[in-house]
Amino acid sequence: QTIYLKDYAPSPYRIVSVELDFRILEENTRVRAQLTVEPAPDTAAGTPLVLDGDDLKLTSVAIDGLPLMLSAYLADEKGLTVFEPPLRRFVLETEVVIEPEKNTRLMGLYRSSGTWCTQCEPEGFRRITYYLDRPDVLATFRVRITAPLAAAPVLLANGNLVDRGDAGDGLHYAVWEDPFPKPAYLFALVAGDLGSITDSYTTGSGRKIALAIYCAHGKEEQCGWAMDSLKRSMAWDERRFGREYDLDMFNIVAVNDFNFGAMENKGLNIFNDKLVFAEPQSATDADYENIERVIAHEYFHNWTGNRITCRDWFQLCLKEGLTVYRDQEFTSDERSRAVKRISDVVTLRSAQFPEDGGPLAHPARPDQYREINNFYTATVYEKGAEIVRMLATLLGEAGFRKGMDLYFERHDGEATTIEAFLNVFEDACSVDLEQFKTWYLQAGTPRLSVSESYNAAAQTYTLKLRQEIPPTPGQPTKEPLAMPIRFGLIGPNGSPMSWTGVSGGAKVEDDLIVLESAEAEVTFTGVANKPVPSLLREFSAPVILDLPLSQEDRLFLARHDSDPFNRWQALQDVSLALATAAVGGQAWSDGDVAALSEAMGDTLASPDLDDAFKALALSVPAEAQIARAIGKDVDPDRVHTVRNELIAAVFGPLAGKLRTAHEGLQSDAPYAPDPAGNGRRALRNRLLALLVGSGAEGAATMATACYHEARNMTDRLAALATAASHWTADAPALLADFRTRFATDPLVFDKWLSVNAGVPEAGVMERLRGILADPGFPRTNPNRLRALMGTFALNNPTQFARADGAGFRFVTEFVAEVDKVNPQVAARVLTGFRIWPILEAGRREEARAALTALQNGGELSRNTADILGRMLAG
Ligand code: ARG
Ligand code: ZN
Repeated sequence: QTIYLKDYAPSPYRIVSVELDFRILEENTRVRAQLTVEPAPDTAAGTPLVLDGDDLKLTSVAIDGLPLMLSAYLADEKGLTVFEPPLRRFVLETEVVIEPEKNTRLMGLYRSSGTWCTQCEPEGFRRITYYLDRPDVLATFRVRITAPLAAAPVLLANGNLVDRGDAGDGLHYAVWEDPFPKPAYLFALVAGDLGSITDSYTTGSGRKIALAIYCAHGKEEQCGWAMDSLKRSMAWDERRFGREYDLDMFNIVAVNDFNFGAMENKGLNIFNDKLVFAEPQSATDADYENIERVIAHEYFHNWTGNRITCRDWFQLCLKEGLTVYRDQEFTSDERSRAVKRISDVVTLRSAQFPEDGGPLAHPARPDQYREINNFYTATVYEKGAEIVRMLATLLGEAGFRKGMDLYFERHDGEATTIEAFLNVFEDACSVDLEQFKTWYLQAGTPRLSVSESYNAAAQTYTLKLRQEIPPTPGQPTKEPLAMPIRFGLIGPNGSPMSWTGVSGGAKVEDDLIVLESAEAEVTFTGVANKPVPSLLREFSAPVILDLPLSQEDRLFLARHDSDPFNRWQALQDVSLALATAAVGGQAWSDGDVAALSEAMGDTLASPDLDDAFKALALSVPAEAQIARAIGKDVDPDRVHTVRNELIAAVFGPLAGKLRTAHEGLQSDAPYAPDPAGNGRRALRNRLLALLVGSGAEGAATMATACYHEARNMTDRLAALATAASHWTADAPALLADFRTRFATDPLVFDKWLSVNAGVPEAGVMERLRGILADPGFPRTNPNRLRALMGTFALNNPTQFARADGAGFRFVTEFVAEVDKVNPQVAARVLTGFRIWPILEAGRREEARAALTALQNGGELSRNTADILGRMLAG
C-alpha cells in the first residue's frame, strides 16, 4: 500500500516520556517499556491508540499498573492497538521479547560480531518495542540496560550516563538519560566488549565535552583520524553556524555490520566501521576524506536533524539535503573548495542524474512512497544539498546565515517541514520563495539551453536562455524553476569583460542571472568585443547545460576562465563532444584531437594549478556519463571502446610528458592525509592510469612496479585498479598478491572485491561467482555484498549489461537470494537496472526478461518489490 503526503495527520496521542528497561541475554532480549501517553487536546473519547510493532513477542501489557484484559487490545504483525485508552495522561507498560541474534535485516536491535547495537531510522524502533514510530512524536528517554558483564562490559545509550553498577548473576547495568525530547528513530543502544579512545573538546562557551570512539579491541590506533575529524567538525559548526554541542558527552561506535554509512543517534552516533578506521597501510586518501566528511555529517545532524527534526518521512531532505550541504561546506573550508566542488558534481552526475533521468526518478521531497527505506537516495541527499546551495547563492552568504539563525531560533525542539524551512528565509530576507520551492517538488534534471549572439555594430551581446524539464514517472508536465546562473563574459585577451547595461526577461545582478521563466533573453550593452561566455560557474544549479560553443571557445575557457570549476568543465565538454560524436559514427578530426591533447599537456604543465585539480582535469567523462549524453539505444561495449580510443588519441602523444611528470611526483615523505600529499598522489596515480590507458610502451609493467613499490594503500590500490581495469598481463597475479597480503583485514578485502567486480572483461562473472561460492564468504555483511555486487551492477556497464543478458540474470538471481536475508542490500543492488531504458533494443529485452523473471520468481520484500515495480513501470 502507498503512503501519501496529503494524508498526513498529527497523532491523536503523544508520548511525553519513555522509560526503557533492556535485559540483554545471550538467547534473547526482554524489553520493558513505560510510555507516558497523553491524548492530543482534540482527541475524542474512544479513539484507539495504535502503536507500531514489528517482529515483537508481547508478554504483558498494562495501563497505570493494571494489566489489560484480552478484549481491550489487539497485538498483530503490524503493532499493538489499545481500543479505548483513558482520555487523560496515563502510563502504558509493555513487555516484549526480541531476538537480536536472528535479526539479519540489521534494523532494530541486532548483533554484529558479538556486539549488540541498534539502527532505528527510519522505522527500526518498532522492532524493539511497541511505539508511535513516527518522527513527529518527541519524548525524553531514560534507558536502563542490563547485560552480561563478560560479553558486554560497555553499555551505551543516548544522552548522559547517570548510574551504573552490578546486577548479580554475572550481569551489570547502566542507566542513561537523554534530556532532549527526540523521535524514536534517534534512539540508540550499544552493548559489547569494545575498546575505545577518548579525548575532550571545549566549546566556545567553555563547556568541556567528553568524547569517545568505541571499536573492536585492537583497532584503537585506527580511530585517531576520526577523532581529529570530530573535533574539527565541532569547532567548524561553532564558527560557521554558531552551533555548539549540547550534551556532556559525545560517543561514536564503529560496528562491522551496518546497512549504510552511519547514523546520527543523539549523543551516540553509530558508524559502519569503514567510515571510522584509517591507517596509511589500509586506508586510501579517499577513505580519509570520506571519514572526515561522514563524521562531520553525523555530528552536524545534531542541530539539523536532531534538535530540529522532520515532521514526517516525506521531509527527509529537510535534514539530509541541509546536512549534506553543511558537510560539503565543511570539506570546502578544510580543503580545496574548487576540488571539492568538482568532485561533488562528478558524484551528482554519476549517481543522481541517472536516478533523476530513469524509472526511479522522484522529487527531493517525494509525495508518496511504498517503502521509505528506498528514498535514502542521491536525489534526497545530493540534489537536496544542491537546492540548499542554490538558496545560499540566491540569498548571499549573509542572507543565508540570517535565515539559518532564524531557523534554529524558531524551530528548535520541533519536527517540521520544507515549507517551514523556506519560510525562515522568506522572513529573514524578505523574499518570496514560492517558485523556488518547486525544486523540492519536481523530479527530473532540467536542461538549460543557451544560445548567444553578438552585434558588433550595436556593441550588444545577447544570451537566449531556455529551460526544459523532462517528464518523469507520475509527473508528465513541469513548471519552470528559479535557476541561479553564475556567469562571466571573457574578452579576447582572457580577462573579464565589462558591460554598461543589461536588459531582458531575467534578473541579472553582478555575476548572477536568475532565470525564472521557461524562456528569457538577456542583452548586455556596451560590450566592446564578442566575449566567450562562461555560464553556470561553480555549477550554480543542478542542470544539464546545453551551450553550443566551438571546441576552440571551450579550450579558450579551459585556459582562461577564472572559475576553476568551468575550466575543468570546459575540458570535460570537449571530450564528451568527441566521444558522443564518435559513438554516433562521426570520427573526430586529427586537428580536434591534437588541440585537446595540447590543452591537456598545458594543464599538466601549468604552474598555477594545483595537483589535485590537475588530476581531475586530466580525465575524460565516465562511460555512464557518455551513455547518458547519448540518451538512447546505447551499446555499452561501443561506448567503452570509443572512450578508450579517445584516451589513447589524446594522451598517447603526451606519453613522454606524463612519464616525466610521474617520475617527478614520486616522494619519499612518510604518508600523511594532508591536501598537498593527497593531490600529489592523485595526480601521480592519474598519470599512471593515463599511460596504461593510452597503451604507452612499458606502461603495463610500470603499473606492476608501482603496485610493488607502493608504501601506502592509496598508491597500491590505484596501481592495482589500473592494472585490473585494463586487464594487463600481470593483473591476475597482482590481484592474487593483494588478496594474500591483506588476508585478515575485511575492509581491505572489500577493496579487492570492488576491483574484481569492476573489471570490464568477459571473465569477470565467472570470477565473481567463484568468490561468492566460497563457503567462507561472509554472506550477511552489507559491506562485502555491496563491494562485490553493488560495484558490478552499478559500476561495470559492459559486463552487467552484457548483450547476452547473463550479467542481468546474475544480478537478479543474487537479489532474489539476498532479499531473504537483508532486503535493504538487495533493493540497493537492484537499482543498478535503472540504466535499462536507455540501452539498445536487444539488451533492453534481456533486462526486461531478467526483471520479469525476478517478479515471477516468488515472494519479495517490500523494499525489493517497490524498486522492481517502479523499474518495470518506468
Ligand atoms: N540518517 C543517516 C545519515 O544520513 C542515514 C540513515 C539511512 N537510513 C536508511 N534507511 N537508508 O547519516
Ligand atoms: Zn544524514
